[in-house]
Amino acid sequence: MKRLGVNIDHVATLRNARGEWHPDPIDAALHVVKCGADSVTIHLREDRRHIKDKDAKSICDLKKVLVNLEISMNKDIISNALKMKPDYICIVPENRREITTEGGLDIKKNFGKLKTIIFKFKKAKIRTSLFINPSLNDIKLAKLLKVDCVEIHTGKYPNLRLRRNRKESWTRRLVQENTLSPNDFILPIFLIDGSNKKESISTMPGVFRYTINRVSQIVDKAIKKGIPMVALFPKTKNTLKNDLGTESLNENNLVCRAILEIKKKYKNQIGIMCDVALDPYTSHGHDGLIKSNQVINDETIEVLINQSLLQAEMGCDVLAPSDMMDGRIGKIRKALDNSNFKNTQILSYAAKYASSFYGPFRDAVGSKSSLKGDKKTYQMDFRNSDEAMREVALDIKEGADMIMVKPGMPYLDIIKSIKEKFKIPVLAYQVSGEYSLLETAINKKLIQKNAVYESLVSFKRSGANAIVSYYADRIDKILE
Ligand code: PBG
Repeated sequence: MKRLGVNIDHVATLRNARGEWHPDPIDAALHVVKCGADSVTIHLREDRRHIKDKDAKSICDLKKVLVNLEISMNKDIISNALKMKPDYICIVPENRREITTEGGLDIKKNFGKLKTIIFKFKKAKIRTSLFINPSLNDIKLAKLLKVDCVEIHTGKYPNLRLRRNRKESWTRRLVQENTLSPNDFILPIFLIDGSNKKESISTMPGVFRYTINRVSQIVDKAIKKGIPMVALFPKTKNTLKNDLGTESLNENNLVCRAILEIKKKYKNQIGIMCDVALDPYTSHGHDGLIKSNQVINDETIEVLINQSLLQAEMGCDVLAPSDMMDGRIGKIRKALDNSNFKNTQILSYAAKYASSFYGPFRDAVGSKSSLKGDKKTYQMDFRNSDEAMREVALDIKEGADMIMVKPGMPYLDIIKSIKEKFKIPVLAYQVSGEYSLLETAINKKLIQKNAVYESLVSFKRSGANAIVSYYADRIDKILE
């Protein structure tokens, strides 16, 4: 069966990275086919016969992939190409008469000749293509010649100079591919008990913990700056922590009170996201329940379901399971649907790595000193990326609305792969360690302040829809 269209991404030419012809074209063709190429392009040249016609013929006979022959207007080559019956031919310039100064085919000069050649191939039911310059006129001429497609040649140095588009600020702005707006941010807020306190966090310069009665101060700021969502994180008093993390199910806990307060005052002017995990509440600092030194999966999920239902009931808009237990997304979704929380969104921390970048956060919520051991039996090994794809695939099947990748900057490859494979909203978490590294280096004048903007744009470039960042409340200064 013949397929239409050659996807440029999948065209493998029989050259190596240095542009040299592969010594054994058939072997090379077989290799790229094995690697998943949908088509191979073979260039028949009159000057150097690196690929012999008989080789090209055997490749054409493979018929496992589309074969595209690049040919010049030379008579012999044309008659051989006709005999080989490729899927496509692409006419490329070979000599001075055929080429323009920009490097494409000179269609105007060769119009009559091209017409006859194209007619021959059309009659043989071989699709045709021309290697042309990116000019409107040439495209019109190619249309007149009734070719099936064109390959647009973008030129090379010295005709092509990429610095031209960078010469002034206005042109740089014109060709910008990624930008940031307040809509791209989620602001994390740390909560503490007590009243009228705004407490600094020693490991996170510039970030504070707020008591409930002062939380509106920071939420006000977020709304004024146009940030769509805040994420709430409690620092639970040690006296309220225990092995089972029961404070997570107390409807008067810090998070619940904060949700009520924010929703009462601001209604739906801003979204609220809450972690679903037990680490702020357990005396051992783990995200789940522990039995015989193991974080136990299924029993933990039962608690997470109740924590989710409680937070949803308080008015939390987006539940963000950050615990990495297996199967929790499906179970939480089901419980939410059964309790009439069909519209509560689930943002799954599907790709969450056992990372050394969380240190300052664990200070901020007070779980650092209590944490026994590490989280490697549930958070992912940072050496892995295929595993992240499996996690994401499962969570999407189970009903996740959005996916979080965490930490952020060391995992841009994961963000990109998820975006490309799953086409689902992907959020990046620029975690506490990333924040504190940047902020400390800036305060010490080791790097410039603009590094923050650069780091945030990198998330957008990799495909993130939004970024959880401790810089979100200062976003206007960053965007300046
Ligand atoms: C809890 C949780 C953590 C973070 C967010 N939610 C820490 C952890 O998993 O140990 C880290 C965020 C940050 O470092 O900024 N599950």
